[in-house]
Amino acid sequence: MKIAILPGDGIGPEIVAQAVKVLNALDERFELETAPVGGAGYEAAGHPLPEATLALAKAADAVLFGAVGDWKYDTLDRPLRPEQAILGLRKNLGLFANLRPAILYPELAGASTLKPEVVSGLDILIIRELTGDIYFGQPRGVRECPDGPFKGQREGFDTMRYAEGEIRRIAHVAFQAAQKRGKRLTSVDKANVLETFQFWKDIVTDVHKEYPDVALDHMYVDNAAMQLVRAPKKFDVIVTGNMFGDILSDAAAMLTGSIGMLPSASLDANNKGLYEPSHGSAPDIAGKGIANPLATILSAAMMLRYSLGRAEQADRIENAVKAVLAQGLRTPDIFEEGTTKVGTEQMGDAVVAALAK
Ligand code: IPM
Ligand code: MG
Repeated sequence: MKIAILPGDGIGPEIVAQAVKVLNALDERFELETAPVGGAGYEAAGHPLPEATLALAKAADAVLFGAVGDWKYDTLDRPLRPEQAILGLRKNLGLFANLRPAILYPELAGASTLKPEVVSGLDILIIRELTGDIYFGQPRGVRECPDGPFKGQREGFDTMRYAEGEIRRIAHVAFQAAQKRGKRLTSVDKANVLETFQFWKDIVTDVHKEYPDVALDHMYVDNAAMQLVRAPKKFDVIVTGNMFGDILSDAAAMLTGSIGMLPSASLDANNKGLYEPSHGSAPDIAGKGIANPLATILSAAMMLRYSLGRAEQADRIENAVKAVLAQGLRTPDIFEEGTTKVGTEQMGDAVVAALAK
């Protein structure tokens, strides 16, 4: 089993190092190969997704990704910015299904900005379509405005579009995920305004015929944003498009107290995947040794479960994470009075120690 390790920028290298430590502490040896990506790719090879890095990601059985981005690259031309690396990997590897679980660990109920009774027991799975929508739709750019009161001025434009097959395949992933959980699926759209999402809604409704055991409902994205902070426990599985999923998954992550706890999986049609923490590169705290490595460690567990067929090893890691939380160890982002504040390395070491038990 070969795993491509792409640490990236900011806190990426620190947190990925902890996940690698955990992988190396398992009974089975995996072949790990590291390559630069994002700003690091630009520094090393003049491109955020160097050819050799893409080739490694394609050849590997799975990809463990840290985070990309740093303010110092914000002035580069768009194709050279670090974010293009992750977009390029998603597109080139066909990673259309993004699974973002938002689980509240009981020990962290106090870390949420929402009242404990609103979030305790929270367990939502957001499934975000990842290779279509306005993120990738052509045409896009800046042009001369062709009509209306601003005719002749410059205008920026993007294209929102979804093909039927694109909607069908993500809907299947979502219905099947719901079957393995609470059997409830909420499809989030903006069918009241957008043609693309009326079409989305119609196709999801059609795919539902194949999954009569799953209860499907439809919700407009603005209402979904409101319900996520009002009564988040009403959701089981949410499926939505690329842009709405980007926004809603950040909101859902924060319900759990810290985005530093949440892993994610981006899968292709054969369950090959890229695994990354749901948070970003946090350049403001990079190098300080205080970043929370648990989202990345839990991403490695998801990788073992979904792409490498090693469910027992995934369980071991997830149980070890629960154990260190029960021991009261906390990185600063989840620290509360009465717990023990630890750094990135110490947290990684504690997970490795808990694995052994
Ligand atoms: C995410 C991120 C990315 C996205 C950025 C870094 C391109 O926000 O994975 O949610 O918008 O998809
Ligand atoms: Mg995002």
